[in-house]
Amino acid sequence: MTRRHFNRLLAAAGTGSGALGGCATGGAGAEPSLDALARAKGLRFGSTLGVGSAGRGSRFHDAAYRELTARECGVLVPENETKWPQLCPDPRQPYRFGPADEMFAWARSQGMALRGHTLLWMLPKWLPDWVNTHDFGAQPRQAAERLLADHVRTTCSHFGDSIESWDVVNEAIAPETGLLHENVLTRHVGDVELIAQAFHQAREHAPKAQLVYNDFMSWGEGNAKHRAGVLKLLAELKRRGAPVQALGLQAHIGVWSLPAPGGAGATGVEWRRFLDEAMGMGLDLLITELDVNDRGLPSDIAQRDAGVAAAARDWLDVTLAAPRLHRLLCWGLADHYSWLQDGKPRDDGLQKRPLPYDAQLKAKPLRGAIADALRAMPAR
Ligand code: XIL
Repeated sequence: MTRRHFNRLLAAAGTGSGALGGCATGGAGAEPSLDALARAKGLRFGSTLGVGSAGRGSRFHDAAYRELTARECGVLVPENETKWPQLCPDPRQPYRFGPADEMFAWARSQGMALRGHTLLWMLPKWLPDWVNTHDFGAQPRQAAERLLADHVRTTCSHFGDSIESWDVVNEAIAPETGLLHENVLTRHVGDVELIAQAFHQAREHAPKAQLVYNDFMSWGEGNAKHRAGVLKLLAELKRRGAPVQALGLQAHIGVWSLPAPGGAGATGVEWRRFLDEAMGMGLDLLITELDVNDRGLPSDIAQRDAGVAAAARDWLDVTLAAPRLHRLLCWGLADHYSWLQDGKPRDDGLQKRPLPYDAQLKAKPLRGAIADALRAMPAR
């Protein structure tokens, strides 16, 4: 990111109401929750929780963090607990529904809606190991189709109508080429055909759930092939009558890949066109995994938080204007629990600050930017 771009981000950040300091923790006269602000516009706000990964302990069993999630959110999605490898690490054992069931029971007691994520993640490294090494026998196509169908049926039937929205297929497109990823199942069934079958199976066994294709295409320069690949896939699924109903925008924003503040740059226009095209196919939109990677922003915390907030505000102003968008979920609420801490580190080695609250559960400027974007967006 250029110095000029960063200064413009900071200037834009100055227009927001900024951090709430320690006063976003509830009580009489407290700031409305993000879900309350979202509801006022016909949306819901939510986040993810998990029982733990990568040695950072269970977010779900951290009482203060769980309470923060209940206070801010109207929708919950498990971070890993409804993925295939976690549900079925060994095909000889029964499915492990316990962790998701525990989180969902709690979320329902808080009046939250539930999302499921994800029935089929296309990259081989996110399939169960045993699927990657499975012997598909003499009739490999039928065997591969049956494997997927069994998984979708087992999972959807277990959760029943409690899940309002399922990420049926996750990340099918290679960003560099715009082509479909291959895996051990596509090799036998065909790529679009496998994805279409996942949607048909989900429709059959989760008849009331919204069925979503979820991916991380961005408005960054250089992402044109990814966006085009996603649109091509969605059009092909529609053409074949596959019951895909919505597009999930993961929204893992990187501040280095943003257009000029205001969203008026060429890439902002391209992004709007991308959203319009998806909606033109009759698809609804969801923001499913918002966070802001602060690699490339300065070490200074005030500057960094302002840059993160400004980047999110820019992106949200364009994206929340899409009339068919009705959910806004962050991928976690507090920095220390972000999956980004496991990824490529910052050059200065400091912990990243990608989420609306810090490790002390104190609201940050990003929380203010999301609130301001919700207040400013058109109602639907
Ligand atoms: C991530 C989880 O946050 C990590 O704990 C896990 O190790 C890997 O997956 N896109 C997605 C999510 O669709 O499922 C990913 O979640 C983050 C990127």
